[in-house]
Amino acid sequence: MQFPDINNPVNSSALSGMLKDDALKGKTIIITGGGTGLGKAMGTYFLKLGANLVITSRKLEVLQKTAGEMETETGGKVLAVACDVRNYEEVEKVLNDAVQMFGRVDVLINNAAGNFISPTERLSANAFSTVIDIVLKGSVNCSLALGKYWISEKIPGNMLNIITTYAFTGSAYVVPSACAKGGVLALTRSLAVEWGRHGIRTNAIAPGPFPTKGAWERLLPGEMAEKFSFKNRVPLKRVGEHQELANLAAFLISDFSAYINGEVITIDGGEWLQGAGQFNGLEMVTDQMWDEIGQSTRAVKGS
Ligand code: HXC
Ligand code: NAP
Repeated sequence: MQFPDINNPVNSSALSGMLKDDALKGKTIIITGGGTGLGKAMGTYFLKLGANLVITSRKLEVLQKTAGEMETETGGKVLAVACDVRNYEEVEKVLNDAVQMFGRVDVLINNAAGNFISPTERLSANAFSTVIDIVLKGSVNCSLALGKYWISEKIPGNMLNIITTYAFTGSAYVVPSACAKGGVLALTRSLAVEWGRHGIRTNAIAPGPFPTKGAWERLLPGEMAEKFSFKNRVPLKRVGEHQELANLAAFLISDFSAYINGEVITIDGGEWLQGAGQFNGLEMVTDQMWDEIGQSTRAVKGS
């Protein structure tokens, strides 16, 4: 058996994609925030698997550039529509444009987000609600529009919400995002049950650190990227590869995961658990220290 090299642990064949070439053939997928970062990575892979793609966010120029690159790379079809997910009418327009172009929509990826680090007491009320509105209200708007459409058209839709691990742990310094992502987690589990009888599946992915320009500029600005190394917080001692997230997302929206509903899958190299176990911080204990500790703890009898 061949083990991965610890300095280069991602097997290159895993980075060329996991599923069969036509795994998403015939499916039309809307990705919010699909012009950049993880949304772009997922969308590119979905196209390679035969899907039709609709990408949406506020900046039309960014979307159009990405759509062009995606079409050139994959030969697939991409519709780029500007939309602020905070506005329900704009979300409905994305859906209508998508149906007009592709005939129907099968999958929604709630991926758009807004976030920045700040001590909470420094935030204005508007700063707090801006993040809540993009992440929670935006996901609600998209889910509601798509859910109404799927139920009335009797389409067994599929929704995938990109949350974070601090949706379940909470996190200091990103409190609006933590509150909003926690709400999206509740949305995921609630709709999985309520809309399951319509054949609609709702799942979530909780990614750990996957470097993107959008996240790193706002969460690790300047010297912070070096001072607060995500890599060292992860038991596997590396950050995620975009294709690894795309592989998981493609599986969850494909028919291969047809019995998975209401699930949240964490993909973080073990990062959040590293912070959870009381004794997890003992990495710095050397072998020699463990020898001494072993002798000393064995010597404790009956006291
Ligand atoms: C404090 C801030 C702030 C900051 C903005 N505000 N940035 N307050 N610290 N760094 C305040 C503003 O002063 C204003 O309040 C209010 O927030 C709204 O700001 P606008 O700039 O008007 O908002 P808008 O143009 O809608 O932009 C939204 C945004 C921006 C969230 C502020 O950063 C954005 O567009 N983000 C989109 C992309 C993104 O965030 N990607 C990262 C996702 S990463 P006042 O009171 O002055 O009006 C992620 C990963 C999590 O979620 C886990 C990683 C490991
Ligand atoms: P990103 O590139 O900044 O992606 C965020 C996207 O959301 C952008 O394309 C942005 O486009 C869009 N967006 C923001 N506000 C919007 C609005 N009001 N309406 C519509 N679209 C809006 O960051 P990313 O790292 O790829 O993040 C993608 C997702 O992964 C997010 O949900 C994030 O919380 C999650 N995540 C990321 C990480 C990570 O390590 N990168 C970890 C955990 C979770 P416009 O500016 O054009 O609107």
